[in-house]
Amino acid sequence: TARPLMDTLGRALVDLRISVTDRCNFRCRYCMPREVFGPDFAFLPHEDLLTFEEIVRLSSVFAKAGVKKLRITGGEPLLRRDLEQLIAMLAKTPGIQDIALTTNGSLLTQKRAQDLKEAGLRRVTVSLDSLRDEVFMAMNDVRFPVQKVLEAIRAAEAAGLAPVKINMVVKRGVNEQDVLEMAEYFRGSGHIVRYIEYMDVGNSNGWRMDDVVPASEILERIHAKWPLHAIAPHRPGEVATRYVYDDGGGEIGIIASVTRAFCGTCTRARLSPEGQLFTCLFSGRGHDFRARLRRGETDEQLFDYLASIWNIRRDRYSEMRTEATHRRKKVEMSHIGG
Ligand code: GTP
Ligand code: 5AD
Ligand code: SF4
Ligand code: SF4
Repeated sequence: TARPLMDTLGRALVDLRISVTDRCNFRCRYCMPREVFGPDFAFLPHEDLLTFEEIVRLSSVFAKAGVKKLRITGGEPLLRRDLEQLIAMLAKTPGIQDIALTTNGSLLTQKRAQDLKEAGLRRVTVSLDSLRDEVFMAMNDVRFPVQKVLEAIRAAEAAGLAPVKINMVVKRGVNEQDVLEMAEYFRGSGHIVRYIEYMDVGNSNGWRMDDVVPASEILERIHAKWPLHAIAPHRPGEVATRYVYDDGGGEIGIIASVTRAFCGTCTRARLSPEGQLFTCLFSGRGHDFRARLRRGETDEQLFDYLASIWNIRRDRYSEMRTEATHRRKKVEMSHIGG
């Protein structure tokens, strides 16, 4: 008995992305550059994080408002202790049909992948920006090797979390040469590489339009060698445009938030580790649910607060992006989970 919410642009609330920690063991240059996220950076203290009980309580309220899909993000979500337990609790929430995880793969062992699957996780997305160590290590900036991420992808596959989606952020002059190699490596594996246009999230990564490799160019690089054609989305509002190889080699996706904005169908809300709700990836501030939880508000009161936020939502940042808007105050990707 969900009571679906609709925003001012006619968009329902369907997906909730839950960031469970603002910490990460990588320092990807495009996300957590170490000049900003150094030894002195003030990450959230543990008591500021929502507890698992609080996350589950909010998820059940969101499910009553129409949320069907959950995606667990971070920071690096596998840094959060006992994450399997949270997944198991969320999997029991009425109305929740799909639970997915976005991870850098560094902590995704065979055992962890199996435990997550048993807890009720359905899908994982693993980030991997290059198959060449010198490029990947420079991008993650903690010298993490490619092989370990490939092992994580195999662990996910073995645990039955396949097909795995593999996220590659493409940055001009950094890893644009790796687009084709990545396609060729995963062709025929059943896994889905998703090429992501480098975005101006947060205020730390020094984004410039010149660093973006447009979707059209990414597609052209692959198409020249392995012809592809577009196919229909699984459901309206999917962020990735889907393509399949003409020869049956499988599927890829392109996430073109910069050159082909998809705000018109954006059904996503984001919950920060400390319980702030962001109605857009590029918002400067969130809405404080934790204070209301800890004040003892009822489910009905929490629902009404959510409705009051969603009913007046009009975010469409990617459609309005200019060289000037990217200087606005925006939440960091590592905090809100992308
Ligand atoms: P599924 O559709 O369930 O496969 O998940 P997903 O593609 O949304 O998840 P993932 O965490 O892999 O996100 C892929 C990329 O898309 C990341 O770089 C996200 O930051 C980006 N992304 C996801 N949702 C949005 C959105 O609403 N707006 C923008 N601009 N980017 C988004
Ligand atoms: N632009 C595009 N994608 C990004 N990600 C992190 N920072 C950026 C950025 N500035 C990606 C991560 C991960 C996903 C959730 O978002 O690599 O795969
Ligand atoms: Fe890299 Fe993801 Fe960590 Fe950001 S949160 S530094 S993108 S691994
Ligand atoms: Fe949704 Fe904001 Fe992304 Fe547009 S920019 S798709 S409104 S999260």
